[in-house]
Amino acid sequence: MLDLLVRNAQVRGTAGLTDLGVRDGLFVPIEQDARETIDVAGRLVTPPLVEPHIHLDAVLTVGQPRPNVSGSLFEGIAVWSERVKDLTVEDVKTRVRQVLRWQLANGVQHVRSHVDICDPSLTAVRALVEVREEARGQVDLQLVAFPQLGILSFDGGRELMREAVELGADVVGGIPHYELTREDGVESVQFSFALAEEFGLRVDIHCDETDDDHSRFVEVMAAETIRRNMSGRVTASHTTAMHSYNAAYAYRLVNNIKRAGLHMVTNPLDNAVLQGRFDTGPIRRGHTRVKQLQEAGVNVCIGHDSVMDPWYPLGFGDPVQAAFVFVHLGHYSGDDELRRLLDMVTVNPALALGLPNYGIAEGNPADFVVFDAPTDVDAIRLGSRRHLVVRAGRVVARTEPAQTTVTWDGDEQPVTFLRG
Ligand code: FE2
Repeated sequence: MLDLLVRNAQVRGTAGLTDLGVRDGLFVPIEQDARETIDVAGRLVTPPLVEPHIHLDAVLTVGQPRPNVSGSLFEGIAVWSERVKDLTVEDVKTRVRQVLRWQLANGVQHVRSHVDICDPSLTAVRALVEVREEARGQVDLQLVAFPQLGILSFDGGRELMREAVELGADVVGGIPHYELTREDGVESVQFSFALAEEFGLRVDIHCDETDDDHSRFVEVMAAETIRRNMSGRVTASHTTAMHSYNAAYAYRLVNNIKRAGLHMVTNPLDNAVLQGRFDTGPIRRGHTRVKQLQEAGVNVCIGHDSVMDPWYPLGFGDPVQAAFVFVHLGHYSGDDELRRLLDMVTVNPALALGLPNYGIAEGNPADFVVFDAPTDVDAIRLGSRRHLVVRAGRVVARTEPAQTTVTWDGDEQPVTFLRG
């Protein structure tokens, strides 16, 4: 007998409706007897959403201790540097727990969070390590030791990076374009790779998050990955300067990214508002070269980056909202592109994070999401709520479908926003 039978699922990438069987928390072959049956009535069913890039330590701090009046990246960093002084473990944990609940309600079951280590007490790292244990089995967290103010440029940066790793960071970060010189930037990337190699960790570096076309540290990441044989274990995040490189350099770089097996994360929400700030017109989109990377066979993911913090005042932790904005920033509105889009918030980041046994397949954990929409494109177009979020065969989040009516010619009629 099954523990759960899910009927009439429009499983993403599968033609027609299918049923799903669950026993002992795993997907198993269908049987007709089940303790519980849920009819999802043709709704889209996907594997869990995967958030490859967020800064949980900063969430919900918008306006603290003062608002970011200009909205720029640099004012955001200045505001955050003031807020860091007020961090306590309890403050961080309370905010992180709240956003993790939002993410879970949005179908996110795996999160990679950068955590600022430019604080001699490492308060945020200590808090996140505790929350990672608390949340295990509901939302799985990977923590990146992230030097917001630089490794070489911040007093004690190298030691704090090592201490963060010893406290339990899963991934080593970096921010080479923020270091004092080009040479320091190169050295910081080499430092991060050496630290990761020493501890057997992955690498995820904030790289070239600027409109400066002379910011060229992704090439250093590719070279380090190739030389250290770390293909598949390294992610370059943001990489907005790539948008402004000349075509010949970009061509060479994309080929080296492919050769190195780097994963790439684009963050359309934050970078839509943070980039292009020094342009007077035309204003660049400040976005990385997603299509060119994908044409070369590179794995590209979409990240949310911020939720109500000094850099981005909006958001509620929904990767589908980030994907919707990406459609516009990335000219990703072609028919095939819209159908592939959800890959960038599910299977692609699962690959970047190295998640085992991910996906709707017999023998895998019965983790999945039921959208209140029949297709991928409808889910993106409507920003559809997640009707059910299921973890190991148990419903862990539920949103009742909205019911809307209009009165038309005196007659109250339902509106679904679906065609035909
Ligand atoms: Fe970021």
